[in-house]
Amino acid sequence: MEIVSENLFLSFCFILSCFFIFTTVRFRQSSTRSTMLPPGPPRLPLIGNIHQVGKLPHRSFTDLSRTYGPIMHLKFGRLNTVIVTSPEAAREVLKRHDQTLSGRNSPNSIRSINHQNVSVAWIHPSTARWRLLRKLSATHMFSPQRIEATKALRMKKVQELMSFMDESSEREEAVDISRASFITTLNIISNIIFSVDLCSYGSEISNGFHDSVIGGMEAAGSPDLANFFPFLGFLDLQGNSKRMKFCTERLFKVFRGFIDIKTAEKSLRNDPKDASNRDFLDALLDLTVGDEAELDNNDIEHLLLDMFIAGTDTSSNTVEWAMAELLTNPKTMVKAQSEIQRIIGQNGFVQEPDISELPYIQAVVKETLRLHPAVPLLLPRKAEKDVEVFGYLVPKNAQVLVNVWAIGRDPNVWENPTQFEPDRFLGEEIDVKGRDYELTPFGAGRRICPGLPLAVKMVSLMLVSLLYSFDWKLPNTVDMEETFGITLHKANPLHVVPVKKNRH
Ligand code: HEM
Repeated sequence: MEIVSENLFLSFCFILSCFFIFTTVRFRQSSTRSTMLPPGPPRLPLIGNIHQVGKLPHRSFTDLSRTYGPIMHLKFGRLNTVIVTSPEAAREVLKRHDQTLSGRNSPNSIRSINHQNVSVAWIHPSTARWRLLRKLSATHMFSPQRIEATKALRMKKVQELMSFMDESSEREEAVDISRASFITTLNIISNIIFSVDLCSYGSEISNGFHDSVIGGMEAAGSPDLANFFPFLGFLDLQGNSKRMKFCTERLFKVFRGFIDIKTAEKSLRNDPKDASNRDFLDALLDLTVGDEAELDNNDIEHLLLDMFIAGTDTSSNTVEWAMAELLTNPKTMVKAQSEIQRIIGQNGFVQEPDISELPYIQAVVKETLRLHPAVPLLLPRKAEKDVEVFGYLVPKNAQVLVNVWAIGRDPNVWENPTQFEPDRFLGEEIDVKGRDYELTPFGAGRRICPGLPLAVKMVSLMLVSLLYSFDWKLPNTVDMEETFGITLHKANPLHVVPVKKNRH
């Protein structure tokens, strides 16, 4: 009996010591971890800092970073979030720790359409699937050869935009710059992908496509409790998943129509299509046949969704912000138009290669992307494991945001940061290609925007053509109010009347 009770006592002591050792180690671990986390504002129980996000998160985070510094930690429900707000910290995230920090945290609405498992924008870059999708788009859409081969197409589509502006000018009608340039961008991308126009100026279909793209962006970027408390996902309290499904289903339906037509055509054709007539969808469909097919139709639909959602609104927005800035800064408008007049003169229309001779216009595009980066917090990244950045812990699974909007307006980096002054870029090497961390509107590192070469061409060509052929009359004042939904929009669309230039 005595032996039994002695054993019991020893076992009890052993379990108690294990418990103490375990809790002490846990306490030590969590206390060292929390002292090492970047500084951040105090949190409320359960919700953490969700109440501090607001409708314009890039602005709220900029304000907070003035108190907590260029690397700060916030907690949204259960989600650790680290936000960086200086070129040096951006470099740490996008270059030094690019490999560990290049996963994605997908919002609940993205998961509601199962996009996180197939999309080039959301799957992990260490997967063979991501490499395949990046390679396909790099080769068949964005390579220097493809960019050159689609030059005439871009010029044709921008000429159609000019004809639309001509008509509006004759009627002295104000034009919604964002919508008009959205249609041009949409048709450029749809011709690269399907070899057809998806819409025309003023048609209802264009409006449907526009609304679906913007609706999809907003559903992905709007505040959603389920992003912070995943168990709430099924309730869809903010309706983001419902909206995402509705908008994307409309787009998928259009894509399926083209896939079916092309598949039918392909099965009837004996000879392979001439290389010069092949579009992106032809290249993708080639990979769906045979025993070793690398893609199926679902993969293709999701890839096309990425291209249209990521490529259209971002580019047309940039044109709209550029025009808004030029119109409110008449001296820059005069400089831009004089440069264009000097180089293009009486040629009658703009050729894409002319742009390389327009340094002031290139500076206008950079200055627009500095003040109005289309994706102000880039796409959210995710830490694959604990990482140390500037001596602080970025814990495993944390969401990492790079506030490029704040970096673009940081007085420690830029002189007169809130002024639109394209001259600051003249004679400077600084570019948007992901090597200069004070200006990374397209991101940097392995996840850098693959559409960058196309985007820069489209935005510059549209802008130069609008300024070459027309003067612009403001019906009323221009404001710079913003709305946010992954991409940054002008809250009040810019409406301006084009006035045809007299070139006699
Ligand atoms: C002014 C126009 C554009 C801007 C400012 C822009 C910006 C961005 C940014 C900031 C990212 C995230 C980078 C990161 O995570 O670090 C991104 C990703 C992406 N962009 Fe763009 N973009 C533009 C145009 C385009 C165009 C024209 C296309 C295609 C037609 C495109 C396709 C994509 C895709 C597929 C991704 C996801 C890449 C990945 O996660 O691996 N973008 N873009």
